[in-house]
Amino acid sequence: MRRKLAAGNWKMNGLSGSLGEAVALAATHPAPGVDILLCPPTTLLDRMADAVHGSKVAVGGQDCHPAVSGAHTGDISAEMLADAGAGYVILGHSERRADHGESDALIRAKTEAALAAGLVAVVCVGETEAQRDAGETLAVVGAQLAGSLPDDGVTGDSVVVAYEPVWAIGTGRVPTLEQIAEVHDSLRAALSARYGAAANAIRLLYGGSVKPGNAAEIFAISNVDGALVGGASLTAADFSAIIAALEAAPAA
Ligand code: PGA
Repeated sequence: MRRKLAAGNWKMNGLSGSLGEAVALAATHPAPGVDILLCPPTTLLDRMADAVHGSKVAVGGQDCHPAVSGAHTGDISAEMLADAGAGYVILGHSERRADHGESDALIRAKTEAALAAGLVAVVCVGETEAQRDAGETLAVVGAQLAGSLPDDGVTGDSVVVAYEPVWAIGTGRVPTLEQIAEVHDSLRAALSARYGAAANAIRLLYGGSVKPGNAAEIFAISNVDGALVGGASLTAADFSAIIAALEAAPAA
């Protein structure tokens, strides 16, 4: 059985004063029935890790460099994230694929670096609206999945896959439940074909405009094991409501 995961992606949001939201979230969920993750900007990572230390809230990074160390000005390695208190790292988010031209091969190298550092990699895939309109969704996300994951070391303990349609991120638009189910079933089948029975333990998150008001119906879809939440993860109140909906969802 897969333990569900509610993951928050703060993106480039949050200053010192925002740490109180993480503390409030931890206090609201002292014994959650699901895993809870917050990925703040790197500037807040070690302070957030300290602030929620001993609680059930894990913290993670939003990106890492594939190398362990070296002459890469402005970049952060997976080992540095782990050293700062991270347990997870988001990789291949569509905003990084678009803003920084990240390829599947680069994301795969980053995923290998994350696993080597003992981090859980949350690897993101998702189609643009034009790709969906052209009927290419399953081919696009299938190719991203194949290219972004390494051959070795991929288990339910090391990798989480997040399906995030680009056109649903930050827009308030969400695919139909049937569309989400179709993609998640296809991702599950692809993981099983490549990694065998071990793939059954890999959690599949949906992301893109998940809010307190739509979380329950999304979490009722089989093969949806949680969510990657942007805007609604910035406040403890909204994220708590999504966590509660996930706790109430049927078991995987
Ligand atoms: P959103 O972002 O919840 O604000 O749509 C999701 C994401 O990009 O991870």
